[in-house]
Order: sequence, then C-alpha cells, then structure tokens
Amino acid sequence: MKTAPALPQPVTVADTAAAIRTEGLRKVYPRGQDGLVALDGLDLTVHQGEFFGLLGTNGAGKSTTIGMLTTLVTPTAGSAWVAGHEVSADPVGVKSRIGVVSQGNTLDRALTVLDNLAFRGRYFGMTAPAARHRALELLEQFALADKASAKAHQLSGGQARRVMIGRALMHLPKVLFLDEPTAGVDPQAREDLWQIIGSLHEGGQTVVLTTHYLDEAEALCQRLAVIDHGHLLACDTPEAIKETSGAQTVITVRYDAAADPVKDAVRRIPGGPHDVVVDGPTVRVRTTRPDGVLGHLLREGGAAGLTVRDAATTPPSLQSAFLTLTGRDYKP
Ligand SMILES: Nc1ncnc2c1ncn2[C@@H]1O[C@H](COP(=O)(O)OP(=O)(O)OP(=O)(O)O)[C@@H](O)[C@H]1O
Ligand SMILES: [Mg+2]
Repeated sequence: MKTAPALPQPVTVADTAAAIRTEGLRKVYPRGQDGLVALDGLDLTVHQGEFFGLLGTNGAGKSTTIGMLTTLVTPTAGSAWVAGHEVSADPVGVKSRIGVVSQGNTLDRALTVLDNLAFRGRYFGMTAPAARHRALELLEQFALADKASAKAHQLSGGQARRVMIGRALMHLPKVLFLDEPTAGVDPQAREDLWQIIGSLHEGGQTVVLTTHYLDEAEALCQRLAVIDHGHLLACDTPEAIKETSGAQTVITVRYDAAADPVKDAVRRIPGGPHDVVVDGPTVRVRTTRPDGVLGHLLREGGAAGLTVRDAATTPPSLQSAFLTLTGRDYKP
C-alpha cells in the first residue's frame, strides 16, 4: 500500500516567547535632505496564536512595517524579533518561519496553481511528493481543488488571494503576514477570505493582517495597532480602543415638531456638559457619558407636548475613535 509522504510538523516554541516583538523599529526612506520617516520608532508585541491587525490609512506605514518584519525592508534603526529570530541578525531564520502574502499579486503567472504551491514547498526543502501532497491538501481546504491545473493568470482576484495564502502556508509558518488581503476583491470573495483567515486563526495560526477597512479590523482582529504617519496611536483590543480613545456616543431624537420648547431643558441633561445641537425637530447629543441622556430627552419632550418620531443611539465606533485619535475623519 502506498503511504502518504511525511509532512513537515510545526515547530514548538516555549509558550512564553512572543510571536513578534519590536523595539524602536524605524524606517526612513531616502528623500530630500531629511528623508521620509515611514515608521517612527515602533514598540510592539504580538503573542503566539494572536490575530493582530495593523490599521491605518494609505501611506500610514503598514507595508513598511510588514516589510521590515519579513526581512524585505532594511530597518533604519531599532530591532524586531519574529518567532524568536532578529530580522537583521538572522534573516534566513526569520524567512523559514514566516508566510507572507504581499499587497500585490505575486503568483507566477506562467505556472499552474498547483505548481505555484508545490514549488514553494520545494524551495523550503520538501520532497516533490510531500510538496504535492501538501499543496493539494491546501487547495482542498481553500475550495480551490478544481483550479489545481489552471494557470495562475486565469484566476479571479479573490481566487488569486486564496492561492497566495495557500502558498504562504506551504511550510507551516509560525507567523502568517497578510498585507491587505481583501483589497480590490468583491464582497462575496471578501467574505470567503474572512472565513478562510478566521478558520486558520481558530486552528492556532498567528496572523498579522494589515488593512484600511475598519469593519475588517473589527471583525477579525483580537488586537489592533492604529498607525498614522508612521506613529503608533493606539494598540489594544478594538473594544478598548473605542472606549479609551474618548470617542463619543451620539444620541439623536427627532420630535414631531420643532424642538424649540425643549431647547433649554436639553442643555441641562444630567452628567453634562454634553455637546448638544438642536436642529429643527432633531436634537443630537454627542457625549462620552451617554447614561440617562435618551431618557431625559424623552421626558422633556413629553413634558413639552412633543411626540418622539425617531430615537437612535450610536455607540463609539472605530471610525469615531480614529477621528478622536487623529483629529480627522478616517478616509482609507
Ligand atoms: N520604497 C520606498 N521608497 C520611498 N518611500 C516609500 C517606499 N515605500 C513606501 N514609501 C513611503 O513610506 C510611507 C509609508 O508607506 P507604506 O507603503 O508603508 O504605507 P501603507 O500604510 O502600507 O499604505 P497603503 O495602505 O497605501 O498600502 C509612504 O509615505 C510611502 O510613500
Ligand atoms: Mg501598504
């Protein structure tokens, strides 16, 4: 009977070791006299098995960070350890322990999907049968088995992303880096990718993902580093970032007639001062202390003979947290 070729086994590392640690990581690209500071001293720890996100708008420094952590960009200063190996001192040690899905499509267009994966396995020292076995296993896992013989250039954007993720997993990396994995793919393909990445994480894979989609960061990431102009503005769970950034809850009530009769009363909302705007029949309150505000607006409206048509409470979002952190709207 034919036995299946041996597959590489994950390397076990002491639980105490961080998957990633950076100290004062800095990158200055040559430009003019002073250069362009793309990342200005990043201190970060990513735990093993964590789903960690780098969130920031265009040019924030996300790809530069990933580039340094994956040994493709040389740091100007500082240090970074990935899976216990320092990126500048031991780039080969780092490379053998990471999988990288970069921002652009880097599949070999002339090769079949299967060979794109299998060749990667060979590069990492797998025997030809083991590489083929692992490649087929991954294609099956990512619902791409029927594309094994297709040429890479025949794939849709979403399929190409899935193949790139599969290729990055060939050698069972300790850390998987995904640089904007869902950029430019349609909503269905995006959901498929979320599913795949989420199940990888559930299987114990450490994942570092960059994105400028707030919903993606919130849906997938356990912790987020918010980066802007090369600076780390916040690093915490999405919930904690929303709470601690001072982002505001917005409470809106629309009455059946102009809110003038309650104009003074709404300015005396308990727990204030709050930011209150009265606009025709609508009262909008922005506050970090929302408890009791809605009840007050309903009571005062009732006392003034107004009927409430609509009432809504919008809790702090990552969008409003970003606004509070940077002083400007989030425009990816
Ligand atoms: N090779 C390079 N040479 C010079 N400047 C660069 C280089 N790569 C990036 N930059 C600059 O460094 C800054 C950070 O770029 P980076 O690509 O890290 O941002 P990003 O957060 O990945 O943005 P995006 O969301 O657009 O991918 C930008 O101002 C960019 O123009
Ligand atoms: Mg980028």
